Order: sequence, then C-alpha cells, then structure tokens
Amino acid sequence: MRLDRLLANQPHLSRQDARLLLARGQVRVDGQVVRDAAHEVRAFARVEADGLPIQSGCTARYFMLHKPAGYVSATRDPQHPTVLDLLEESDRADLHIAGRLDGNTTGLLLVTNDGRWSRRLTQPDSQLGKVYRVDTAHDIDPACVEHFAAGLYFRFENLITRPARLELLGPRQARLTLHEGRYHQVKRMFGRFRNPVTALHRERMGPIVLDPALGPGQYRALTIEEIASV
Ligand code: URA
Repeated sequence: MRLDRLLANQPHLSRQDARLLLARGQVRVDGQVVRDAAHEVRAFARVEADGLPIQSGCTARYFMLHKPAGYVSATRDPQHPTVLDLLEESDRADLHIAGRLDGNTTGLLLVTNDGRWSRRLTQPDSQLGKVYRVDTAHDIDPACVEHFAAGLYFRFENLITRPARLELLGPRQARLTLHEGRYHQVKRMFGRFRNPVTALHRERMGPIVLDPALGPGQYRALTIEEIASV
C-alpha cells in the first residue's frame, strides 16, 4: 500500500497530517526516514510516524518442504491431508504455497507468507526453470527430446509450450526442465505420447534445490542466500 494512504487510514491522522509528517521527515519505514508519499509499503515493513507505531511489520517466512505423495497442495481440504498440515508453525494459516504439486507428485515445495516473492517464482511468464524427475509406464520415445524442445500445442490454453529440456536417464526415466507452469503440464506432455507418468518428483525451482537431508514430510527454513536468489 502507498505510504500516504497507510498514514491517512489511521483514525488519528488526516490526509493533511499525513502530508505534513512526510514533509517534516517524521515518518520512518524500517528505521529509515521516507518522505515519498508514493513509497510502496510492504506488509513486512515496520512503520512509525512521529515516533508512534503505525504498522508493526510481520516477519517474512520462507520454507522448503519435501512433499510426500498423498498430500494436497492446498491450505484446506475436506478429504485429504494438506501440505500445510506438515508444518509445525503457529502462523501456518498465513502461509501459502509457491507453485503447487499434484497430490501424487513428490519433492520440492516452497511455502511462504511473502506474496511478492512467490509471484516471482510462479508467474506464468517466470523464466525460472523447474526441474522434475519423471518415471513413465512405457519406454520414452527419444523423439520426445526434440518435440519437447520445439514445444507442444495445448488446445485448452491455445498456446505452444515453451522449449523444455528432456534428458533421458533410463528407458523409462527422464529429467525434464520446464520454464513455465501449466496445469498438469508434465503429465499432459507425456500423455501426448500415450506414455502415462507413474512417478513425478520436483528436484528444483529456479535456483532453489531440494535439500537431500530432508526426507519426505520434512521441512526447513530457507537460508538468506536461497531467499535472495529468487
Ligand atoms: N506437472 C504435473 O503434471 N504435475 C505436477 O505436480 C507438476 C507438474
């Protein structure tokens, strides 16, 4: 929210008061004087006007979870356990998932309360690579490497998928790097070649790699470097 609006929303401050406080350098955001009325204030910022707290600022939270199969990527579900049930955090109701996985997909799931950060990872046009290990029911046709690199037409969205990199690891196993996130994208891509995906595991999202020390269902806070890398 704009700083002048945040100030003028306070019951004890008029718009005129807000302008004066800003002009006099009496407004601090995270300890720094800010005079720009249009300054965008984040939910995590601490704001004071004339020494009095206006917004206390909540703590930004970032976690990586090794998602096990059988958990749904939702904050609530009437039938199945959700991935948020795996987090023993008192503020988990404030957290959201940055890039959902299907119920039977395993691997890296990022969870945060920072919407701006998660959008950088999940916007449809985000170029950050998402890397999946894929097991299939039948042998993978080596021609898929070229087809996936050229892009496949998705009729529902009326688009051609971005060039994807397919690396064959075995007759029925591959590593696939996508630069977008369409609904059930991996399964639909292999489905086009009548080869059902039998197991799907996300290894990486952009620069963040699933920590091998985390077993299924375990999680940890991201490091400062991991947060800043996105
Ligand atoms: N593509 C899929 O088909 N499923 C996932 O869970 C992720 C990507």
